[in-house]
Amino acid sequence: MKRAAVLPSVLFVCLGNICRSPLAEAAFRVEAERRGLEVEIDSAGTGGWHVGDPPDRRAQAVARRQGVDISGYRGRQVKPEDFHRFTHVVALDRDNLADLRRIQPSDGTAALLLLLDVVEGRRGKSVADPYYGDDADFEVTWADAVVGAAGLADLIAGDMRG
Ligand code: 4NP
Repeated sequence: MKRAAVLPSVLFVCLGNICRSPLAEAAFRVEAERRGLEVEIDSAGTGGWHVGDPPDRRAQAVARRQGVDISGYRGRQVKPEDFHRFTHVVALDRDNLADLRRIQPSDGTAALLLLLDVVEGRRGKSVADPYYGDDADFEVTWADAVVGAAGLADLIAGDMRG
């Protein structure tokens, strides 16, 4: 049986790293744990406004309603080295993807994709930015994070099976 040489590692990236990517990180942690998938998981923002900040309180609240505590997460900005450190860099929306393509080093080893690329019928679609929305918008974000996490776990488990 062929085996992947490196442990999979996933970095979720949105704009601020306080709403969507922390929720994607949380949903994927839950999914990986459920499946017994050994994977390193982190999140970051393309922007630097929220470096060191905890997730938006509405993101914390939607995660808490699902039994997940993300209050200890802290914002950080994505950097070119992340394309060497992670096997997968996952953009939450198409703007994030375009920004990531700009900072991706030419010798970067990470696969770069959109979260919803791995969801049947939603390839190429963005996870909507809930920052100027309300709790209902954050529920939509969580639902997108959950379906994306399942698709990503399928992808990574398939890669590991070779
Ligand atoms: P996120 O949401 O990219 O999902 O974390 C946003 C957070 C902050 C801002 C925009 C979007 N902002 O303009 O500060």
